Amino acid sequence: MAKPTNLSSPYLVFFMIFTVISFARAELQQSPAYLGFVFNATELPSEDYYDYIIIGGGTAGCPLAATLSQNYRVLLLERGGVPNGKPNLMTQEGFLNSLTDVDSFDSPAQAFTSEDGVPNARGRILGGSSAINAGFYSRADQEFYGRSGLNLDPRVVNQSYEWVERAIVFRPELKNWQSAVRDGLLEAGVDPYNGFSLDHVVGTKIGGSTFDSSGRRHSAADLLSYAKPSNIRVAVYASVERILIASSSTYSVSKQSAIGVVFRDQIGNYHHAMVREKGEVFLSAGTLGSPQLLLLSGIGPRPYLSSWGIPVAHHSPYVGQYLYDNPRNGISIVPPMPLEHSLIQVVGITNSGTYLEAASNVIPFASPARSVFIRYPTSPLFLTVATLMEKISGPLSTGSLRLASTDVRVNPIVRFNYFSNPVDLEKCVNGTRRIGDVLRSRSMEDFRFRGWFGSDFRYVGPELPVDQSNDLVMGDFCRRTVSTIWHYHGGCLVGKVVDRNFRVIGIDALRIVDGSILTVSPGTNPQATLLMLGRYVGMKILRERTR
Ligand SMILES: Cc1cc2nc3c(=O)[nH]c(=O)nc-3n(C[C@H](O)[C@H](O)[C@H](O)COP(=O)(O)OP(=O)(O)OC[C@H]3O[C@@H](n4cnc5c(N)ncnc54)[C@H](O)[C@@H]3O)c2cc1C
Ligand SMILES: *[C@@H]1O[C@H](CO)[C@@H](O)[C@H](O)[C@H]1NC(C)=O
Ligand SMILES: *[C@@H]1O[C@H](CO)[C@@H](O)[C@H](O)[C@H]1NC(C)=O
Ligand SMILES: *[C@@H]1O[C@H](CO)[C@@H](O)[C@H](O)[C@H]1NC(C)=O
Repeated sequence: MAKPTNLSSPYLVFFMIFTVISFARAELQQSPAYLGFVFNATELPSEDYYDYIIIGGGTAGCPLAATLSQNYRVLLLERGGVPNGKPNLMTQEGFLNSLTDVDSFDSPAQAFTSEDGVPNARGRILGGSSAINAGFYSRADQEFYGRSGLNLDPRVVNQSYEWVERAIVFRPELKNWQSAVRDGLLEAGVDPYNGFSLDHVVGTKIGGSTFDSSGRRHSAADLLSYAKPSNIRVAVYASVERILIASSSTYSVSKQSAIGVVFRDQIGNYHHAMVREKGEVFLSAGTLGSPQLLLLSGIGPRPYLSSWGIPVAHHSPYVGQYLYDNPRNGISIVPPMPLEHSLIQVVGITNSGTYLEAASNVIPFASPARSVFIRYPTSPLFLTVATLMEKISGPLSTGSLRLASTDVRVNPIVRFNYFSNPVDLEKCVNGTRRIGDVLRSRSMEDFRFRGWFGSDFRYVGPELPVDQSNDLVMGDFCRRTVSTIWHYHGGCLVGKVVDRNFRVIGIDALRIVDGSILTVSPGTNPQATLLMLGRYVGMKILRERTR
C-alpha cells in the first residue's frame, strides 16, 4: 500500500476532470439502441390508440412491454427519465450516491419515510427500482410458486428467468470482504457451500448480479432491447394520473372495464392513451405506485374514496391493505485495512427464517454520505465501511398505504408495523444471533483492530448486545435498530385485489404485474422474480391470443 500523500489541489482538479471526461466518453460509447423509441412525453399526441398500455417502466413493466411488442402495439409510460448519462446510477460505486441524491424533482431515487420512522426509497427512472438497486439476483424459493396464489406454469417460469438472465445477469467475482463473509457463514454453520447458483438453496452461495465484470449496471431497461421497435413507444416524464374506467351493460349485466389512461407531461399538458378492442391496461407502477393509482382512479374501499371525494368506480376493500416490508438489521465496521467496494454477492440461506448478506462501501472523502461515518484511519481520500446484515423471510407483520394527496406526484403515506407479529421478531433474533456467530469466526479476525487487551471490531453505529443468548435483549436490538432492505411489497394482493391471472377483480381489461401483488417477498431478494413475472405475463398473453 502506498503511503497517503498530501495531494495538492491541482492534482485533485486534474483527477476530477479526468473522471468526468471518462464518464462522458463511456456514456457516448454505450448509448443503447432502444433510445430510438424512447420519447419525451411532450412529443406524444394528445390522443392515441394502443393494444397494451403499461403504466410504470420498472422492473416488471419493461420486460412485459418488450414481450408484448412482439405482436402488438404497446405504450410504456414512465414518470422518470432515462438512466443513461447519469454516471452514479450506472456504476456499482455510485450506489450510495444515487440513493442519497434525492433532492431534485427527477432524481432517480425518490425518498420516503414510513410512519414507522424508517427511511426508504423507490425508483423513478426507466428501469424502475432495478436501476437504483444493489443488483443482487437470486430466483424465488420453490415454496413461493405455490404460496403466491398465482396460476404459474413452471416451464414458462423457467424460460422467463432464462430470458432475463441471458441479457442482464452476471457472475460476480468475490473480493476480500465478500470472500471473508462466505467463509465466515460456513464457519457459523450456514452450510453446505453451494458455489455460484441462481437457485434458492439452503446454505451459503454466490448469487447473480446485474452489475457486469466492469461494475457497470444492467437493469430492466436493458430488456427493452428485445422489443420490436416498430410496435413500441416508451414515454418518459409521463406521469399517469388516472386509469379511465367505463361501464357497459349487455343483457342487463353491467360491466366495468379499463379503456385507457390519462397522463401528464413535463410541461403540464394532458394526454389520453386509449386501448383498442381486446387490448388491456397494465399497472406496473410498483408497491407504492399501483395501489396509489387504483385509489386515484376510484378503485378502492368505498368509504375511504368518498372521504377524499374520489368518485367510486369499483368498491375494492383491500386496495392499500396488506403492505409489507422485510426488516433489515445488522452491524457495520470500519476495518483496519482498505476493502474493495462490493454490493451484495454472497448470501447465507438458513432454515430459521433469515437470510444473511453483506456489502462494503468505499466512500469518497468528499461524499455527503461521509459525515455519517468516523474518520478512516489509513487513507485521507476514502474510507470503507463493511456491513453484515440479515433480512427475515416473509414477513408476517402487515401495514397499509393511504393517500397523502390526490396529486399522484406526492408519495402516499405508508406504515409497515415492523415486528408487530412475534414470529418476525423471532426470525430477527435468529438472524442477528447468526451475525454474532459470523463475527466470532476465524475469517473475521483480520477485520479487527488489535489493542493492548486483545482485539476488537471498530463499529459504526450500533453493536450487537453482549448477551446474545438473551431473547429479550436481542429482540430489543431488532426493534431499536430496524432498517429496510427495500423489499417492500403488497398493497394489491393476489386473492384480495387481483385474481390468480393478475386481473383486477371486478374490472375488465386491467391487470397488475409488480411487487404490489405479492404476499411474501420471493427468495432472498425479489428482483429476479419480478423481472421473470413481467416476461411471464407477456408470454402468456402472446400464447393465449394466438391460440
Ligand atoms: C435501494 C434499493 C436496493 C435494492 N436492492 C435489491 C437487490 O440487490 N436485489 C433485489 O433482488 N432487489 C433489490 N431491491 C428491490 C427491487 O429492486 C424491487 O423490489 C423491484 O425493483 C420492484 O419492482 P417493481 O416492478 O414492483 O417496481 P419498480 O421497479 O419500482 O417500478 C415501478 C415504476 O413505475 C413508475 N411509476 C410509478 N408511478 C407512476 C405513475 N403514476 N406514472 C408513471 N410511472 C409511474 C416508477 O417511476 C417506476 O419506474 C432494491 C430496491 C431498492 C430501492
Ligand atoms: C421534454 O420536452 C419539454 C418541451 O419541449 C422540455 O421543456 C423538457 O425539458 C424536455 N425534457 C427533457 C428531460 O428533455
Ligand atoms: C425450473 O428450474 C429449476 C432450477 O432452477 C428446476 O429445479 C426445476 O425443475 C425447473 N422446472 C421445470 C418445469 O423445468
Ligand atoms: C429460530 O431458530 C430456532 C433454532 O434454529 C428454530 O427452532 C426456530 O424455528 C426459528 N424460528 C423461526 C420463526 O423460524
